[in-house]
Amino acid sequence: MTKPRSLIVALAAASFVTGQETTSIKLPSGDVETRPLVRDVFGYSIEPIWVNAYTDTPKAFNLLSAIGAITGKPPPIRVGGNTADQTYQHATLPNGRDWDAVRGELSTVQQFNVTPAWYGAWADYFPPGTDLIYSLNFRANESGWANAVAQAEAVHAALGDKLKMFELGNEIDHFINKGWRGADWGVERYIDQFRNLTGQIVAADWYQKMPEPQRPKFQAGVFADPPWVPDQHDEIDDFSIENLTTLASDRSRVGGIVEQEQDKAIIGSYAMHLYPQSTCDTERWHRMRLDLLSDHLVLWQNVSQYAPQVAAADRAGAPLIMGETNSVSCSGRSGISDTFGAALWTVDYVLLGAALGLEKTYFHLGAQSEYSAFTPAGYELKNESLAGGIRPNWYSHYFVAKVVAAPKDSKMNYSIAALGGEANSSSLSGYAVYSGAVEKTEPRLYKLAFLDMGVWNGTEGLTNPSTLSATDGTMFSEGARPNRTLNIATSWCAGRNATVTRLLGPGTNAKNDVTVSGVSFDPESGDMLGMETKESVEVGGNGAVAITMRRAEAVLLEIEDVTPCGAPLPPTSAAVSINLYAHGVLSLVVYVVGLTLLL
Ligand SMILES: *[C@@H]1O[C@H](CO)[C@@H](O)[C@H](O)[C@H]1NC(C)=O
Ligand SMILES: *[C@@H]1O[C@H](CO)[C@@H](O)[C@H](O)[C@H]1NC(C)=O
Ligand SMILES: *[C@@H]1O[C@H](CO)[C@@H](O)[C@H](O)[C@H]1NC(C)=O
Ligand SMILES: *[C@@H]1O[C@H](CO)[C@@H](O)[C@H](O)[C@H]1NC(C)=O
Ligand SMILES: *[C@@H]1O[C@H](CO)[C@@H](O)[C@H](O)[C@H]1NC(C)=O
Ligand SMILES: *[C@@H]1O[C@H](CO)[C@@H](O)[C@H](O)[C@H]1NC(C)=O
Ligand SMILES: *[C@@H]1O[C@H](CO)[C@@H](O)[C@H](O)[C@H]1NC(C)=O
Ligand SMILES: *[C@@H]1O[C@H](CO)[C@@H](O)[C@H](O)[C@H]1NC(C)=O
Ligand SMILES: *[C@@H]1O[C@H](CO)[C@@H](O)[C@H](O)[C@H]1NC(C)=O
Ligand SMILES: *[C@@H]1O[C@H](CO)[C@@H](O)[C@H](O)[C@H]1NC(C)=O
Repeated sequence: MTKPRSLIVALAAASFVTGQETTSIKLPSGDVETRPLVRDVFGYSIEPIWVNAYTDTPKAFNLLSAIGAITGKPPPIRVGGNTADQTYQHATLPNGRDWDAVRGELSTVQQFNVTPAWYGAWADYFPPGTDLIYSLNFRANESGWANAVAQAEAVHAALGDKLKMFELGNEIDHFINKGWRGADWGVERYIDQFRNLTGQIVAADWYQKMPEPQRPKFQAGVFADPPWVPDQHDEIDDFSIENLTTLASDRSRVGGIVEQEQDKAIIGSYAMHLYPQSTCDTERWHRMRLDLLSDHLVLWQNVSQYAPQVAAADRAGAPLIMGETNSVSCSGRSGISDTFGAALWTVDYVLLGAALGLEKTYFHLGAQSEYSAFTPAGYELKNESLAGGIRPNWYSHYFVAKVVAAPKDSKMNYSIAALGGEANSSSLSGYAVYSGAVEKTEPRLYKLAFLDMGVWNGTEGLTNPSTLSATDGTMFSEGARPNRTLNIATSWCAGRNATVTRLLGPGTNAKNDVTVSGVSFDPESGDMLGMETKESVEVGGNGAVAITMRRAEAVLLEIEDVTPCGAPLPPTSAAVSINLYAHGVLSLVVYVVGLTLLL
């Protein structure tokens, strides 16, 4: 954690603009707690049985490449999920292919059988520079995890140095309930078994032959239970990152995982999973609501429950990762997960996670899941024929890419802080992005992101051929879509221009017609369409920036020139807000007059 000395709050912005809602945003002054904002903060987790569906078409490659082109680092991919602990490796399969999904009742997959050639089939699919995590079958403990040991070698042989980490199992805190471990399953047993399986992999010839920096590490933990929501716990157990890293003192037999150097040396990160809503059971089914997703304070509650786990991972010397997540567990809920409201939530979530110390967030993908940001091909679902396509939450990723992208030709790192006050309410969220702590120079404010999380149900963009039409919006907001002007007191120099990027959609309930400043993506091919529209706003006297945003919209302001300010401009030339909306000469005049009166 770093503490930039920052930002003079000079202008007490008041309501200059008559007849419209205005909100004054004060940035933190003095010490600000920030966290690193990494380029590949936004990743995907792909369910093993769906990997082929995604890699059979160029769509995912095209989409992921578009992100890499902006950020300089393609999104990280974790191949994992429930079917990781159902994956069995065989030399050959009876069907003569390199994979076979054996289905049981209700057509759910009982076993996912693969040959070593299966890993090779998708190893080279992802854009160059993609970091991959592979989740081994930890459930199958026969013959000392012989299946997982063989998987590890074959995955590495296929993926080479693209393979950054292994996971041992998925959501291992649900193993008793699934009948995969006995009643004594807990942190202590887990540590024993973690050491046994990692010990076998690390001791293997293929692993030892590699130079140290190329050796894949292990992402430990991979727990599902949200600490503060007891009715989402499958069973009573003692799994938490705190307990894993430092075992309670009455447990004398094994130390916490950090107490052992051999563990510390191989653990690259710790992972938790989070699904704020769920269709998995009746209680949670009745709690599902789109407006609960479109609420920054609800998100704050959901994500801040990981603060103790972040602190524990920090002490253990490896970052905490949100290793698998999405809006609604058990595959999502059309009408919630596939709306523009979910897209705003996704942006808010990734940025809040980063600000609270969750280094990366991986959104789960299934080729037929209602929450997937994109689906590769058509299929039948709930009596409807759906096309493959792109859902609004894909555009969250493109917007976040703009937030993390460094200035041209710069390798600079950023750090991020969540804003408080007015920019920390149910309907408004805000983030400040600074140059990172590793820079030699004083941290400077580069970017500001704001999300209006208020609900606006419009009448456009309601249908998307890749989502269920039965869930298209039917409740509409009345009157004109509201907007507000943010009057932000920044440390930026008067007279410089901040560029503006907007995540735009027809309404919270929209499933289509979402863009990022005019850019969209072809739902079939994943090709980028259109050019970004240029919008900028000039910084006024004392760093004042005014920006208008509509209800349910996100905006990113960024400044390229952060060199020290020259001579200050005379105040009346200040605070000219140029934006696409051109919301009226009157408001501009009123703003300038307001400034003049104030100064
Ligand atoms: C091995 O797995 C079986 C079920 O798959 C489980 O009952 C047993 O407890 C496991 N053994 C150990 C040592 O965890
Ligand atoms: C793993 O456990 C088995 C059975 O208890 C034991 O024989 C083996 O030595 C252990 N291996 C490692 C690397 O700890
Ligand atoms: C951590 O372990 C202690 C001692 O066994 C237990 O009481 C506590 O519930 C555990 N924490 C979690 C979050 O499971
Ligand atoms: C997220 O927050 C909502 C609202 O407080 C709550 O109903 C839900 O259980 C939370 N979910 C998780 C997983 O924390
Ligand atoms: C699909 O259609 C069948 C037959 O008409 C019906 O019984 C079933 O309830 C429908 N399922 C859904 C999810 O609408
Ligand atoms: C940015 O962060 C990465 C990873 O921590 C580090 O390797 C790199 O040196 C940093 N770059 C700069 C310019 O400080
Ligand atoms: C945002 O609001 C929540 C809930 O009121 C509070 O716990 C949190 O500290 C606030 N965050 C900031 C950055 O002020
Ligand atoms: C907006 O529409 C969603 C369903 O699409 C509904 O759950 C919500 O209550 C509506 N909210 C308002 C304010 O109309
Ligand atoms: C903002 O709202 C006002 C009325 O409240 C309206 O006159 C103006 O056109 C709106 N601007 C945008 C960009 O929606
Ligand atoms: C800021 O943008 C305006 C409008 O595009 C332009 O006229 C002005 O020259 C720009 N100022 C700077 C410092 O780039």
